[in-house]
Amino acid sequence: MIYPLPAALISCGNTPENYNLLTVSWLGTICSNPPMCYISVRPERHSYQLIKESGEFVINLTNEAMAFATDWCGVRSGRDYHKFSKMKLTPVKAEMLDAPMIKEAPLCIECKVKEIIPLGSHDMFIADVVNIQADKQYIDPETDTFDLAKAKLIAYSHGHYYKLGEEIGKFGWTVKKKK
Ligand SMILES: Cc1cc2nc3c(=O)[nH]c(=O)nc-3n(C[C@H](O)[C@H](O)[C@H](O)COP(=O)(O)O)c2cc1C
Repeated sequence: MIYPLPAALISCGNTPENYNLLTVSWLGTICSNPPMCYISVRPERHSYQLIKESGEFVINLTNEAMAFATDWCGVRSGRDYHKFSKMKLTPVKAEMLDAPMIKEAPLCIECKVKEIIPLGSHDMFIADVVNIQADKQYIDPETDTFDLAKAKLIAYSHGHYYKLGEEIGKFGWTVKKKK
């Protein structure tokens, strides 16, 4: 019942022939400094072996325009389809990895696997974040930050995809002195 979750597209593989995508909701930030993330993947996924062998993956955040591809890549296997071409997504080599990232994604987080922890149904890939690339159209020129609302990111909760709602507050607003 922990919600909402991201529904991210993980890109993996290290040559255009074996590039693959899988949808993942078991993922998150686990350390600020050094920046680290995790994804949990079932060993039976085609992507599992690709990530284990290359030690690399990219977390591509998904937006409303990518919702169809996000679901489809989560119910079809790279054993049967080249998901990039099927979903008309453009693979571009990441800057620090051989793995591809998705050109159409609003934000891409390049990750290098540090440790794999077998947990049960899923193995947890703990990874160092080695680079982040954001689509410049979502960078607010005034604050020089990524504009989440403009990117129209999607969330996932118990089998359903959602748009993000309206902002209702800002970090620390409860204790900020009035001007
Ligand atoms: C919304 C959503 C979230 C998912 N989250 C995960 C996850 O966290 N871990 C996982 O192993 N599979 C997850 N899956 C399932 C995989 O994406 C799915 O089995 C996919 O077909 C695997 O592709 P592959 O065989 O090409 O690697 C999720 C699927 C969907 C639709």
